[in-house]
Amino acid sequence: MGSNPLDLRLWLSKVKEFGELREVLGADWNLELGAISELNVKRDVPPALLFDEIAGYPKGFRVLTCSTSSPARLSSILRLPIQKTHKGLVEVLRGKPAQWQANARNFDPVVVDASFENIQNPVDILKFPSPLWHELDGGRYIGTGCSVVTRDLDSDWVNVGTYRVQVFDRNHVCLDMVPGKHGRIHYEKHKKAGKRFPVAIVCGADPLAYLISGIEVPFGMCEWNYIGAILQQKVQTTLLEETGLPVPAASEIVLEGFVEPNDERTEGPFGEFHGYYPGKAGTAPVVTIEGVYYRNDPIIVGSPPAKPPNDYSYSKAVMRSALLMDALVAAGVPDVQAVWAHEIGGARMFNVVSIKQRYAGHARQAGHILSQCGVGAYMSRWSVVVDEDIDPSNLQEVMWAVATRTDPAIDIDIIQRGMGSKNDPMYVAYPYGAPLTSKAIVDACRPWDHLGEFPPVAEASKELQEKMRAKWKDLL
Ligand SMILES: Cc1cc2nc3c(=O)[nH]c(=O)nc-3n(C[C@H](O)[C@H](O)[C@H](O)COP(=O)(O)O)c2cc1C
Repeated sequence: MGSNPLDLRLWLSKVKEFGELREVLGADWNLELGAISELNVKRDVPPALLFDEIAGYPKGFRVLTCSTSSPARLSSILRLPIQKTHKGLVEVLRGKPAQWQANARNFDPVVVDASFENIQNPVDILKFPSPLWHELDGGRYIGTGCSVVTRDLDSDWVNVGTYRVQVFDRNHVCLDMVPGKHGRIHYEKHKKAGKRFPVAIVCGADPLAYLISGIEVPFGMCEWNYIGAILQQKVQTTLLEETGLPVPAASEIVLEGFVEPNDERTEGPFGEFHGYYPGKAGTAPVVTIEGVYYRNDPIIVGSPPAKPPNDYSYSKAVMRSALLMDALVAAGVPDVQAVWAHEIGGARMFNVVSIKQRYAGHARQAGHILSQCGVGAYMSRWSVVVDEDIDPSNLQEVMWAVATRTDPAIDIDIIQRGMGSKNDPMYVAYPYGAPLTSKAIVDACRPWDHLGEFPPVAEASKELQEKMRAKWKDLL
């Protein structure tokens, strides 16, 4: 197993080497893992947390959280040179998602023999320390930083998506897949045809697995291929006995089963990425578990959503910023300097682009495309455009530009009836008959038609700042 590049333990040993792994002994699955992780992630550079000796469970049955919450860990997960700052990370990431996507077809996963050390008979998923993450959650969740594998009904397309997984009892879990998500599309087809729906749930693997199954990989593409393109090596998979679905051979814990026709029950509620609970719990498909496979001393990878910053808001901000940057360039917007999809908006609802203005209308063009491009349109609420002297990831600077470079009457464009979500906390107050929302594009660039007269910034020049930093380095 040690030579498998998707082996979580190999990655953990690297993280330990660069000093970002903390072991926590004796915490309780009942709210403590969740609260500790939530407090941890609000620190400047939060370490990854590996919980062991969890109350009521044998030593070795572990839970990992905060795996993607630092630039160093995220760059190592993406197999990029280790970066200590998010600016450095976004810089090395630029253009990579487009390359990975283009190369994915060359990396069909390979099939190897199964090597799980344990196969449960009879199955009992209560043996694993699934956390109750937050006080208002409707139950315990074994799947947050997980990867759910499904197959299309009328093609051989295998999809892998991160969808939360609630534990019901020793052999039933519930899957929350929002309409439009690829796994949900697979499920709806089976449901319509009255067929059992095969599902495999990878509850722990190298965080690269859930990082990629948790972003928008194109329709029809398998995430194992995409991951292969990142690793520059085909993913080694094992075909599960009952469903034939492929899961990484190095997985920590895998659940395998079927949704029986029309077996849907109340799921949740569970906190969402934007920091709120949806109005009320809804129904979702139930998976009857028929196979449970795990390694000795297995590790659940947890990544609970909560009010941002949360466990995965940093990785979402980095990944979506890189994807938005690529989308703007692909749409032909020139001189885009940087993009940042802010954690406070769950990397969806408050996005900023900086441009070097080249022509009249350039700023509006960038703002509208940021708001409406494929990767950005879902739940985009505020899209802000700033000049190149503003760092889009620095809220202080962004809001200074909004405060000082806008005339609200003409600098906020509103798009009506845009793409929203039932998960939007504002959904309750909206008058629409579907998940629609209005969207604001804020042009916080200096006005193009008055550039010449716009007052200069009262701040030491970059050169003077650097000179002072060098000369007065003990002071500054
Ligand atoms: C930790 C984490 C948890 C997530 N939970 C859910 C969820 O419960 N339901 C859902 O529909 N999407 C969830 N998402 C978002 C989806 O994983 C994401 O939209 C992904 O693109 C879905 O895969 P698909 O495009 O193949 O459908 C989550 C993402 C992450 C990173």
